[in-house]
Amino acid sequence: MRRPHGSHIRGMDNNPSSPFFEGVFGRLFRTLRPAHHSDQALNALAAAMLAEFEETPTPEDEIDDEENQGVDAGFTYFGQFIDHDLTFDPASSLQKQNDPNGLIDYRTPKFDLDNLYGRGPDDQPYLYESDGIHFILGPGLTGNDKDPRARSLPRNTPSSGPRRAIIGDPRNDENVIVSQLQASMLRFHNKVADVMIEKNRDVTFTDIHQAVRWHYQYVVLHDFLPTIVGQDMVNSILPHLKSGHSIHQDKPKLTIYSFKKDPFIPIEFSVAAYRFGHSMIRPIYRLNETLTDRQTIFSGDGNRSLNGFREFPSNWAIDWDLFFDPGGAPTIGTNRIQKAYKIDTSLVNPLGDLVIAGIVPGPPHSLILRNLLRGRSFCLPSGQSVARYMGVPVIPDSKLKVGKATEGETEGNPTIVSLAGEFAGNAPLWYYILAEAQQQFKKNDTPIHLGLVGGRIVAEVFIGLMLGDPHSLLSQAPDWQPFEEFQKTVTVDGSEIKEFKIRDLLKAIL
Ligand code: HEM
Repeated sequence: MRRPHGSHIRGMDNNPSSPFFEGVFGRLFRTLRPAHHSDQALNALAAAMLAEFEETPTPEDEIDDEENQGVDAGFTYFGQFIDHDLTFDPASSLQKQNDPNGLIDYRTPKFDLDNLYGRGPDDQPYLYESDGIHFILGPGLTGNDKDPRARSLPRNTPSSGPRRAIIGDPRNDENVIVSQLQASMLRFHNKVADVMIEKNRDVTFTDIHQAVRWHYQYVVLHDFLPTIVGQDMVNSILPHLKSGHSIHQDKPKLTIYSFKKDPFIPIEFSVAAYRFGHSMIRPIYRLNETLTDRQTIFSGDGNRSLNGFREFPSNWAIDWDLFFDPGGAPTIGTNRIQKAYKIDTSLVNPLGDLVIAGIVPGPPHSLILRNLLRGRSFCLPSGQSVARYMGVPVIPDSKLKVGKATEGETEGNPTIVSLAGEFAGNAPLWYYILAEAQQQFKKNDTPIHLGLVGGRIVAEVFIGLMLGDPHSLLSQAPDWQPFEEFQKTVTVDGSEIKEFKIRDLLKAIL
């Protein structure tokens, strides 16, 4: 990066963990051969993975059989938010082969919230209040009576066209839900700032930034990761969490992810495993209890669609209790907890046409096909060869099916090999990871998280990135606890314990 007159970059003193906004991509399984797939086979698979658009949504007094009883709907968008903190590849080609070592990640591969902070208050002062501490917030939102101070994102005022959000990562305005999560995180920073300033007037931006990052990292480790990969997988990598010993006594165990000096984003993570979230997207969401209609995730109808990159109606304030279970939430009714769709080998139809989603990346417009082609262009190995490498059972072709994990559809779902013979023992890694999770399916209400291949890739990369960041919670203070006033007391097995989950972070701003 070029620096004017050899000086350091303005604003970086305030953003100590992000000296550069770039990292590199790399590989986890360098020695494994690429899986070859023809256009024809990938097209057939993409078509079979696309679930039809639901013209008639499941009423709210019934449980939708596509819902994952193990994962609340909010985790989809928290997952997307985390992705935007870690990785951004605007440059690779879908058609040519790409070398991950030559490709730049325009995000720091750290849980440092650079998608929130931008390059800090000195370098991007327009994101901050004049005190250089608090974030500027957008206009007020109504509709959620529990949160009368709800705010949207700040936006520009062009003479024509949609009003774009002025934020650290434009992708966090890609849909109305991630947009409001970004706005809530801005408010969380402001809340932490107020709490810290009240205790000590000399507190600095750097102190506040660190406290916010550590609360976020705590939630990633203790809530997001166990929900998505299962607590056993997390404990197998961070055994001190189970044993209660120190992290220095019971050291972390990374088996597939290693780096010499600086951590990197493996393409098996960004192009395959971490794209699991695309299958969790629901077609319909209720934002709050005062709206009569529910909203659709991407549709041609601007009044109902959650399309982003624009100002949305001011009575669309999200009630996060409908997205993250506050504890004991009802399962039916307008105040029900909405669950994510299952991690399985089907994606809801608006994602078959990103133009409807307001995302126009150029053809192909199917997110499914883009994921499959992206995997091929990075020469990813097959799911089966990764499973063999990791020493976990390889799923037989007869069990690799394509379609929804529901009691109604499972039986009739085709196998991947019936779509194209070249998939025999040779499934695309992203597909395999979804199919692996789907193996857990027994009944409509079986909770589903990532399996041994997908779960380990996601968990080792997350934990490795935190261990490799000298400023992270795990590196600096593994026993650190969130602020007392933000924690929730719950009773587990007859004993009272304190918790801090994403739902508590979002309660702290009310
Ligand atoms: C409505 C929600 C979402 C939409 C519309 C969306 C759309 C997209 C699109 C268009 C791409 C680029 C595809 C390509 O050309 O290769 C992408 C990439 C990606 N998505 Fe999503 N996505 C959504 C949610 C999620 C979620 C929930 C996750 C994970 C939990 C996720 C993880 C990723 C990852 C890891 C990439 C690659 C990022 C990079 O390296 O630049 N996405 N998504």
